[in-house]
Amino acid sequence: MPETPVFDEGRARQIIAEHLGLEGPLLPILHALNEELGFVSDMAVPLIAEALNLSRAEVHGVLTFYHDFRREPCGRHILKICRAEACQSLGSEAIARAALAELGVSWHETTQDGEISVEPVYCLGLCATGPSALLDDLPIGRFDKEKLAEAIDEVRAP
Ligand code: FES
Repeated sequence: MPETPVFDEGRARQIIAEHLGLEGPLLPILHALNEELGFVSDMAVPLIAEALNLSRAEVHGVLTFYHDFRREPCGRHILKICRAEACQSLGSEAIARAALAELGVSWHETTQDGEISVEPVYCLGLCATGPSALLDDLPIGRFDKEKLAEAIDEVRAP
């Protein structure tokens, strides 16, 4: 089962405070929360808004604009599938749809067993081997449904 979302308010407040001195601290704060806590909880939004003297809507708008920020805890492994133009022209969308159906998730969701989160990316810089994906740190070039499934099975194996 996926982890229950847990929000560490104390650590979130510390992270926010650590970045307040930066010029344009909002994005660095969101990145730091995402990296350290694994996701940016909606519960962090009012804390950030208050610290930066912004409205909650402004913080929420930035949080939801960027694809990099997770809003829920992620699985043990992250599969990033490229949805940018070069990969799309090589059929990535149809393959990705099939892979998502196979895993029983939508974009940004985690499989029932908490193992695999699937995230869209808009160019991995691996266009020459498109369609491209990244499973944790492993690049998967010229993927098809079988190749993705194989890579997933490998990381899922006990
Ligand atoms: S367009 Fe997919 S890796 Fe660049």
